[in-house]
Amino acid sequence: MDKFVVKGGARLRGEVTISGSKNAGLPIMAAALLCEGPTVISGVPKLADVSHMTDLLADLGAEVRCDPDGRIAIEVRDESRSHAEYERVRKMRASICVLGPLLAKRKKARVAMPGGCAIGSRPVNLHLRGLRAMGAEISLEGGDIVAVAPMLKGTSIFLGGPYGSTVLGTDNVMCAATLAQGRTIIESAACEPEVVDLANFLNAAGAKISGAGSPRIVIDGVEQLMGTDHPVIPDRIEAGTFMIAAAITNGHISIRNINLDHLMAVVDKLREVGVDVESANGSVEVSSARRLEPTDVTTQPYPGFPTDLQAQLMSLLCLADGNSAISERIFPDRFMHVAELGRMGADIRKEGYTAIVTGVKKLIGAPVMASDLRASAALVLAGLVAEGITTINRVYHIDRGYESFEKKLLALGADIQRVDGGAVPAE
Ligand code: EPU
Repeated sequence: MDKFVVKGGARLRGEVTISGSKNAGLPIMAAALLCEGPTVISGVPKLADVSHMTDLLADLGAEVRCDPDGRIAIEVRDESRSHAEYERVRKMRASICVLGPLLAKRKKARVAMPGGCAIGSRPVNLHLRGLRAMGAEISLEGGDIVAVAPMLKGTSIFLGGPYGSTVLGTDNVMCAATLAQGRTIIESAACEPEVVDLANFLNAAGAKISGAGSPRIVIDGVEQLMGTDHPVIPDRIEAGTFMIAAAITNGHISIRNINLDHLMAVVDKLREVGVDVESANGSVEVSSARRLEPTDVTTQPYPGFPTDLQAQLMSLLCLADGNSAISERIFPDRFMHVAELGRMGADIRKEGYTAIVTGVKKLIGAPVMASDLRASAALVLAGLVAEGITTINRVYHIDRGYESFEKKLLALGADIQRVDGGAVPAE
């Protein structure tokens, strides 16, 4: 299990290029199961989760070739296997993305039910509700979701849940609807840019989808989809993480391959607390030169402030000049980083799904434990500015979602090292 050893104090400077989006790339890889012929996806980041998806697609009869330049070619050779086994699904929750494509294309799917994870309970009831509404018969056998549908039929589906829309649920139903008979309307669909990227891929493959990016997506079923070439969008969460890295170190960095339209709520919050964010010559300059102001923020589905940047923003607000309130409205238990930041001298009090952060003058380096992908990134950010040495254990979480994280930080002047600590535990 590798560790990161971070010596705080360096102000980040220089240029960083954002990788392709993990959360767009994974569902698009799964959607390649719907297509005849080869699909080529470019800009896919080299991440542990992408390797997991590659292995899963191979289990399901696809030939997958990953080029060193981030292009992934996928072609289905054998449609006889439709079982996503627990061993794969437990390593990566996004394995659930194969459910809709398998059901639509192979008329049946068996996908292990994902369990909970460090950010809380992660039900898939809305995915199943959507597929059932289209005529699938779904049961649970030995911990697996078993779905059968000789012919999916288009219908109107309301996909809203207690915490709003569902991203991968929208993806699954949208994929299934591409080959269904007739028209499917998804109401309360997720509006995230990653859903739009998937819809763009499917449309390029021959699907008839309109409205992606709005809460109402209309899909007219077609006979078949043909593999196509598709570049994935830049990773908005990685971009937001580097913006906060610049801000927390009072640095000045230039970010390339970033789409600011996908980050409106984040830019708005950063500017409100005193961070400068400017577009210039195709890149975005982020800098801050003084102690930041506190703020209140609530995570929301897109275009609201993303839950995937909540932990990183918390690290930043730990050092603001006053009290901030951070409310988590997507995953109310996503607060594992609070206690770890406390070990570094942060003053955070949790009340239900809100964390009250009282700004302190400094953080102090400490050994801390990464619990999930974004919480781990938040601890690295805190380490960049803490006095002394911070050791972040279990960085395999970061490797699931940030391509070359420490190398990119090193290039910006951070003092960060990866230390080999033995095998990664099975989770
Ligand atoms: N929900 C239900 N029932 C469902 C599905 C979801 O109640 O059937 C609830 C969830 O418990 C949660 C809310 O709806 O309270 C939203 O969950 P959503 O389904 O949108 O999450 P997801 O699709 O499983 C994706 C990202 C997450 C990101 C969330 C929210 C991928 C692979 N994962 O998960 O990314 O936090 O959307 O934006 O795209 C990450 O990258 O670190 C990460 C966790």
